[in-house]
Amino acid sequence: MVKFSAAAIAELQRWRRAQEQADSTTHWTVTLSKVSGSCHKWAYDLQLSPSLEDAIAPDAPKTDPLDQNLQLSVPEHSQPWCRELTVDYSEDLIGGGFRFVNPHAVKTCSCGVCFDLD
Ligand code: FES
Repeated sequence: MVKFSAAAIAELQRWRRAQEQADSTTHWTVTLSKVSGSCHKWAYDLQLSPSLEDAIAPDAPKTDPLDQNLQLSVPEHSQPWCRELTVDYSEDLIGGGFRFVNPHAVKTCSCGVCFDLD
């Protein structure tokens, strides 16, 4: 299960409100994926997209509501790397940024985006 801090949810809601000004969609999905990293082997990526009907089909990736208009989707290939993950948001980075705390990571970079698991 992925946990989001109040600051991370507030930032995702800000993303959603900004997108809603250009798109009348009211239900959004945040996709959390493991991708190739830069300073370490892996990184986490967050993408916001309008929710699709099939996103909640029985065989769709696992979703959890962040709020009533914002759902989390973790593709199956990324789920093992998101076990017990905490997503936070901090303004102490230039321009602010999400920080990912994975208790299973053996190394994490200073900005909290990239990590190694072995
Ligand atoms: S991505 Fe590694 S220090 Fe920021």
